[in-house]
Amino acid sequence: MGTLKVTMIDVNGETRTFDNVEEGTSLMELGKSNGVAGIMGDCGGGCACATCHVYVDPRWWDKVGEPDDIEFAMLDMVADVMKDTSRLGCQIKMRDELDGIEVTVAPASTY
Ligand code: FES
Repeated sequence: MGTLKVTMIDVNGETRTFDNVEEGTSLMELGKSNGVAGIMGDCGGGCACATCHVYVDPRWWDKVGEPDDIEFAMLDMVADVMKDTSRLGCQIKMRDELDGIEVTVAPASTY
């Protein structure tokens, strides 16, 4: 089993690339452990804070897929910054299919 590649553009517009990501790691865990600006992960991955909000690059959207109802409800609370490809980073777990994925960290909501 190899490792996977992830590109994250942080809230300051800085591109961070990680090419040794283990399968099963969530984008929140990855961003938080590497100090990616804008990824807080306050609730520890419980789908309850939206401080791991990312915009999935549209080219990857089909593979990532839609949020479930609980995640959507959380995203809906940050609707001022929500986009069509918004997801919670803690709910995206890396798998082979997502090797090379690109996401942009969403700005903090003002709610
Ligand atoms: S870490 Fe809280 S919703 Fe993702």
